[in-house]
Amino acid sequence: MKTQIENLSAYQPGLNPEELKKSYNIEGPLYKLASNENLYGPSPKAKKAIKDKIDNIQYYPDTTSLNLRKAIGDTLNIDENRILLGAGLDDIITIISRAIIKPGDKLITSNLTFGQYYHNGVIESANIVKSPLKNGKFDLDNILEEVDDETALIWLCNPNNPTGTYFTHNELIEFLNKVPSTIPVALDEAYGEFVTAEDFPNALELQEKYKNLFVLRTFSKAYGLASMRIGYVIGDQKIIEKFNIIKPPFNIGRLSEIAAITAYKDQDYINDIKLKNANERQKFFEIPESKHFYPSETNFIFVNTENVNKLFEELLKVGCITRPFPHGIRITIGFPEQNDAMINVLKNFTY
Ligand SMILES: Cc1ncc(COP(=O)(O)O)c(C=O)c1O
Repeated sequence: MKTQIENLSAYQPGLNPEELKKSYNIEGPLYKLASNENLYGPSPKAKKAIKDKIDNIQYYPDTTSLNLRKAIGDTLNIDENRILLGAGLDDIITIISRAIIKPGDKLITSNLTFGQYYHNGVIESANIVKSPLKNGKFDLDNILEEVDDETALIWLCNPNNPTGTYFTHNELIEFLNKVPSTIPVALDEAYGEFVTAEDFPNALELQEKYKNLFVLRTFSKAYGLASMRIGYVIGDQKIIEKFNIIKPPFNIGRLSEIAAITAYKDQDYINDIKLKNANERQKFFEIPESKHFYPSETNFIFVNTENVNKLFEELLKVGCITRPFPHGIRITIGFPEQNDAMINVLKNFTY
């Protein structure tokens, strides 16, 4: 067994609603707002497609998931051979880490971001540098200072989970201009569909020039298909072919592929989700207490407080399970009713 595994723990899922109801004596319904899912779920067309295609599940799926790669590639005007699909981005992060990191290689990411970059880096015996966030944002200048000959991989998350902040197209260009082209930069855009800021990077366009840039996206968030487990990475074809060697052969189930294709083709639904989310997000930022929140381009908001337990309990009392962090709480934006209840709590809270 790799000794470094002793220093890690298995993924901790969000807290269980039934147990929480008992421990906190809560009577009404509890909403899971701890994992940034889309509460509205997927396009109804995707649900129907799953039901219609339920036959033939005794056969293995297409190992290359060609139809889904084609659907994505055609829409984005990208060769489908530049796309690799995984059982969620969790799978893609594992594949990338496994393919790239050799023991002792330097891996750079931030100190408060999605935990799987670190987790997989430890498993692959990387030497991990956690660059501090600046005002909740990836500090690209600080990351550049860490880049050296030992650096094998850089993980960026934009917008960042759990803070919701983003860096701009020009900031990314400036960064990529200074990173040696031999160092892969993996850019996780799990929440990209929720972004409304106009200066958010057009990362796919940048891939023309920066072949070391890999862009990751998922069907788990805006597309409402978290339990179908589909994510993908777009990058240079030669490297994607190498990642393909690492990929578990049948990592995408047939029904998952069908659901994703149908959901992907229903962009009107995604636009509606984006609009609903942006309107609800705006409501949180209209209150004066929003000075305690990081700005957000996502479907969640990070509330800075040292009274984490107290705020967690107050939000629970109005039926909302949120996600505590050492210096704050991350709230997934829910239906208007939950959002209004949470806003009311946030207005009256002592931070
Ligand atoms: C930034 C980020 N990346 C990746 C993931 C993993 O997503 P999935 O494996 O469901 O595609 C998440 C899930 O919360 C995330 O927040």
